[in-house]
Amino acid sequence: MPLPKAELHLHIEGTLEPELAFALAARNGIGLPWADTDALREAYRFADLQSFLDLYYELMAVLRTEQDFADLADAYLARAAAQGVRHAEIFFDPQAHLARGVGMGTVVEGLWRALGASETRHGVTTRLIMCFLRDESAASALETLDAARPYLDRITGVGLDSAEVGHPPAKFREVYEAAAALGLRRVAHAGEEGPPAYIAEALDVLGVERIDHGLRCVEDPELVARLVRDRVPLTLCPLSNVRLRTVESLGDHPLPAMLDAGLLCTVNSDDPAYFGGYAGDNFDAVREALGLGDDRLRELARNSFHAAFLDDDEALRARYLAEVEAYTF
Ligand code: HPA
Ligand code: ZN
Repeated sequence: MPLPKAELHLHIEGTLEPELAFALAARNGIGLPWADTDALREAYRFADLQSFLDLYYELMAVLRTEQDFADLADAYLARAAAQGVRHAEIFFDPQAHLARGVGMGTVVEGLWRALGASETRHGVTTRLIMCFLRDESAASALETLDAARPYLDRITGVGLDSAEVGHPPAKFREVYEAAAALGLRRVAHAGEEGPPAYIAEALDVLGVERIDHGLRCVEDPELVARLVRDRVPLTLCPLSNVRLRTVESLGDHPLPAMLDAGLLCTVNSDDPAYFGGYAGDNFDAVREALGLGDDRLRELARNSFHAAFLDDDEALRARYLAEVEAYTF
């Protein structure tokens, strides 16, 4: 039985496995520029974040109908459950779909078909987090929040993703203020490729409660001290960092030093279909490459439930935390 954990950094579009991409392409009569799944997998050699994003957005063309989004999310939840994920907070990128003529309702209702059945079908509780693309305009983000208004009962929070450098958090001050006024939780990618200053800005200007990635905080000791003091969760994605070359190899990952410094780190999968593994695979990989002991792995699992948006169900959080403490390796 795998260690129980919460997944807090997972882009649902990044769970699109080549086999499902080709199946959806066939179902929707869409041609793909790769001959087969092997040829597509050959393209998964990324130089940086942008080279990944180019393929990530291109392959989304196969997602057209509510059922496509339902099938995508259900496939992810089945895999996540098999790797010990008990609770998943799932990002989606509506602007990438709206731009292709796929409506907000198609995306949210489709995802909800799978998420609404997840606890019964897979034993995984879920939350939905709507991300804004930071390389699109602030006005576009505001329009996206507006388009989501009919679906806010299904959306727990907002996030910020896509190409980081040159798109600082402050660009999105207004939409984050509007999201907060609507009662939405706030997170943002920061310090993946962007500088540590973006992490502080996300906290100060956007009022985020968690930082996605946050890896580059290690370059700024004062920022680390702040993150430790304020118990700001960081949703790290070790296999993603290797594939996108933000770290040279898994053995060089600063996770052990970050835990030693007292940072509230969690381990997540980001875009598992592209980066070589789901949540449990990431736990296994850091255990092997970094020699993390059972206490450290339990700490990571415990952190994931502490950092989860389960404030509306503290009894559930307590139950999950008890599962972590009772786990025998
Ligand atoms: N970083 C930024 N944006 C993203 C990512 C990521 O790793 N995955 C999907 N969108
Ligand atoms: Zn991400």
